[in-house]
Amino acid sequence: MDLSFRDAVWEDAEFLLSLRNDPSVWPHCIQARPVGRREHLEWFKDVLQRDDVKIFILLQDRVSIGQVRYDFKQDGVYVSISLCVDHQGQGFGVQALKLTGQKIFSLPNVMVLKALIKENNKGSLRCFENAGFCCVDRERNGNEYFMIMELRKAS
Ligand SMILES: CC(C)(COP(=O)(O)OP(=O)(O)OC[C@H]1O[C@@H](n2cnc3c(N)ncnc32)[C@H](O)[C@@H]1OP(=O)(O)O)[C@@H](O)C(=O)NCCC(=O)NCCS
Repeated sequence: MDLSFRDAVWEDAEFLLSLRNDPSVWPHCIQARPVGRREHLEWFKDVLQRDDVKIFILLQDRVSIGQVRYDFKQDGVYVSISLCVDHQGQGFGVQALKLTGQKIFSLPNVMVLKALIKENNKGSLRCFENAGFCCVDRERNGNEYFMIMELRKAS
């Protein structure tokens, strides 16, 4: 399994849109709906100019197979991840969280990674646990419950 990653660039816009709107992905997003092309392109253009969001493209043999996003917030850096459907369930998720997490922890002042995961997303919860995250809380948002997962920087 030869997994690597690189920073997202503007040319990844269409790949990220089709990944975001894949039926195996969008129901697990916090905003659980497909997004329109124009909305996505505006969002992505903005993201590429910001320094509080970082998107990595996951590559296997130089082919894009998914993405990991890190949102830098006051209380920690929030992680979200999605893989193309034909690359799910093969261990890439755990590896991707470990690889990209090392990079984020190497940045100054990053002490904790966090993830908000829907309680019914058992595969994702397991993936984050296997990457070293622990569940620290459970939060309600409308009709849904989210698990708050955390990984602290090794001292
Ligand atoms: C969530 C996701 C990133 C996980 O990555 P992955 O590479 O598919 O997962 P892995 O192959 O690393 O498997 C992780 C673990 O979950 C388990 N698992 C997978 N699906 C499961 C399910 N439906 N129920 C319970 N466990 C499940 C696997 O058996 C594995 O555990 P194990 O190694 O201890 O046996 C990926 O499936 C994905 O992109 N899903 C769609 C988008 C999504 O849900 N993103 C997360 C939003 S928070």
